[in-house]
Amino acid sequence: MDAATKVTPDTIRAMKAARRRVAALTAYDYPMARLLDEAGIPILLVGDSLGMVVLGYPDTTHVTLAEMEHHIRAVARARPSALLVGDLPYHTYQSPAQVVISAQRLVAAGAEAVKAEGGRDILPQIRAIQAAGIPFMGHLGMLPQHVLEEGGKYRIKGKDDAGRAKLLDDATALAEAGVFAVVLELVTPPVAKEITAQFPFATIGIGSGPDCDGQILVTHDLLGAFPWFTPKFVQPKLRVGEDVRRVVREWVASL
Ligand code: KIV
Repeated sequence: MDAATKVTPDTIRAMKAARRRVAALTAYDYPMARLLDEAGIPILLVGDSLGMVVLGYPDTTHVTLAEMEHHIRAVARARPSALLVGDLPYHTYQSPAQVVISAQRLVAAGAEAVKAEGGRDILPQIRAIQAAGIPFMGHLGMLPQHVLEEGGKYRIKGKDDAGRAKLLDDATALAEAGVFAVVLELVTPPVAKEITAQFPFATIGIGSGPDCDGQILVTHDLLGAFPWFTPKFVQPKLRVGEDVRRVVREWVASL
């Protein structure tokens, strides 16, 4: 992306129409947001994955709206050209009335769009967000906020006919709502490809194969900056964790 051009939801729609790949990464603080923006990433997600990779929680269900606001403010101070998407954390979008208040708080902190996990089950909430003038990004497939209901396992979705049918029905609901993009997390590659071909929104895959319109990663995974856990589908491009240990030991030894 041209670093000077502000990215909007319509930019992402145009990228889908032009078959241009959409790169997205997570950002949780000012310096990383600046670096990723200067590298031309069109979508910066302040994801609730920050619960694990920044705050040390075991999963995303512990993240609060106040914590999301804090990190969104930090990323917004970088004034990115990228579209700044903020995650609605667990239990902050249980009704249309609640979600509008939650989403407006993230927008007041600096988010330009919000993301929540679910499809047809949260359609009234999605419509309420959009009626309040806030762009919405979907998230289907493995839903990390439901990991405890799944026995603590991050399971691949769309493996059988019922799973495929549910994903297609949820994607239909999101398309009817007019969302500009949908994260597909741990969806089987054939079903991710089918959704990408069939629907007008940009699909942003994570662990869902190469045939999505774009890809998203947790930046810490890409950089090897959270070395205690790396998802199977990620090949870290750096080993920041190892480098930090080595450099610090060397510095201590040099004193
Ligand atoms: O919270 C997050 O970072 C996410 C991405 C993994 C898509 O939802």
